Amino acid sequence: MNIPNNITNICCIGAGYVGGPTMAVIAQKCPEIKVTVVDINQQRIADWNTENLDKLPIYEPGLKEVVQEARDRNLFFSAEVDKAIDEAQMIFISVNTPTKTYGVGKGMAADLKYVELCARKIAKVATSDKIVVEKSTLPVRTAESIKTILDAEGKNVNFKVLSNPEFLAEGTAIDDLHNADRVLIGGDQDEDGLKAIQSLVNVYSHWLPLERILTTNVWSSELSKLTANAFLAQRVSSINAMSALCEQTGANVDEIANAIGSDSRIGPKFLKASVGFGGSCFQKDILNLVYIARSYGLGEVADYWEQVIKLNDYQKRRFAEKIVKTLFNTVSGKKIAMLGWAFKQDTNDTRESAAIYVADYLLNEQAELVIYDPKVKAGQIYTDLDYLSTRSEEENKRLITIVNDPYEAMDDSHAVAILTEWDEFKAYDWKRVYNCMKKPAFVFDGRNILNIRIMDEVGFELYTIGRG
Ligand code: UDX
Ligand code: UDX
Repeated sequence: MNIPNNITNICCIGAGYVGGPTMAVIAQKCPEIKVTVVDINQQRIADWNTENLDKLPIYEPGLKEVVQEARDRNLFFSAEVDKAIDEAQMIFISVNTPTKTYGVGKGMAADLKYVELCARKIAKVATSDKIVVEKSTLPVRTAESIKTILDAEGKNVNFKVLSNPEFLAEGTAIDDLHNADRVLIGGDQDEDGLKAIQSLVNVYSHWLPLERILTTNVWSSELSKLTANAFLAQRVSSINAMSALCEQTGANVDEIANAIGSDSRIGPKFLKASVGFGGSCFQKDILNLVYIARSYGLGEVADYWEQVIKLNDYQKRRFAEKIVKTLFNTVSGKKIAMLGWAFKQDTNDTRESAAIYVADYLLNEQAELVIYDPKVKAGQIYTDLDYLSTRSEEENKRLITIVNDPYEAMDDSHAVAILTEWDEFKAYDWKRVYNCMKKPAFVFDGRNILNIRIMDEVGFELYTIGRG
């Protein structure tokens, strides 16, 4: 198989939260490599090519500077999928792999139809040897299926499949890519496999020291990604479990996090109690892990990891219940301001955001919600709610109001619920907010970000996760 040591042409299928920033950074750091990002969604490509860099389709701190530097130099966003695939020596698959919503494994397994479509597409159009890189998070042994399809459909060309899972977190994607703790590359341990691994190592070594580029066999690489996300999510569920106990006992969950995080064996990160983790990966990847374990007959392993999800669901429900209970057991007809809709700060991504579940719960209790998020567009909020709830689109539209001014959201409200840890919330004039709210004025801080002492002085009834 023809495997160049130094790749000069890369194609990426999927211009999303992962494909877009990752390719932008590869292009920025490797000016001699032509990087073309393609997507079946032509509007997405047009958005990536926008003149106004403040209007890129995704929001990530630092992204626009990287795009500005590399776009039209060696970074291209194109709707000509076939051409880009055939010209490339290395093709990244970075399409979404949502949880299946139908059939066997419904609600648990990853839906691989887009990945399979990509493999078939590559096989159909490739007229020269290709290295195919799995970037999307995939169940263990997917590479094998991709390879089978490529070989069966391909025309006299050779393929090597690598696994190169993504560890970037949204909101810090550019920094995570620039200063990755590690990059993981899995490949076959035969001669061509090792050559393919080396060619990708050579891409990342443009900016990362070699000791941070780990190489493994394909299956270890695929399973490492699921394991990493399961461990991170497990930490959040663990501290959230303690938060419930804190609220009963008078212990303070932040103090506990600080105390245990000072143990170097535990470490301080991912110990922030919250209304629950969201995002496109944690829940999906753990469900996937559970499904895989169960399908191998490992019931105890599956149950163990499933508990991380159950605890997360419990935390979201617990928060919503707390609001209703505190507001004298009824929120019917009451105006509640929701601050934040994104699943975490510094992103406009709302996938699996706790805010969606809390909003749905409160709407079922007939609350009137006024929602503000600094980056999420109104259309996205409606779509999220329509997808989750059993109410009609019209009803959701009638029950919620989306505003561009946070003070308007909170004016004359019975309560404020903070669902995302946006920094700007801390800087609000809370005295002014207090004065314009109904009394007693309640703030439910699902992200534990407000300064409790100041809030108490202002006069709010403040409820934070992990405080009685
Ligand atoms: C996705 C997965 O969610 C994640 O598990 C994986 O690690 C990386 O890929 P993300 O980039 O955040 O993450 O997804 P998304 O923002 O939805 O982008 C995927 C893009 O692929 C979309 O723009 C979609 O239009 C495109 N796509 C999808 C194709 O170009 N072809 C397809 O066949 C399917
Ligand atoms: C995650 C992984 O971190 C990343 O390596 C992987 O590639 C994709 O999935 P992401 O989902 O973008 O990244 O965000 P992350 O920072 O991990 O946060 C996930 C959720 O956990 C957010 O809702 C966040 O608010 C929550 N969280 C995180 C907590 O509630 N407490 C914490 O201490 C940390």
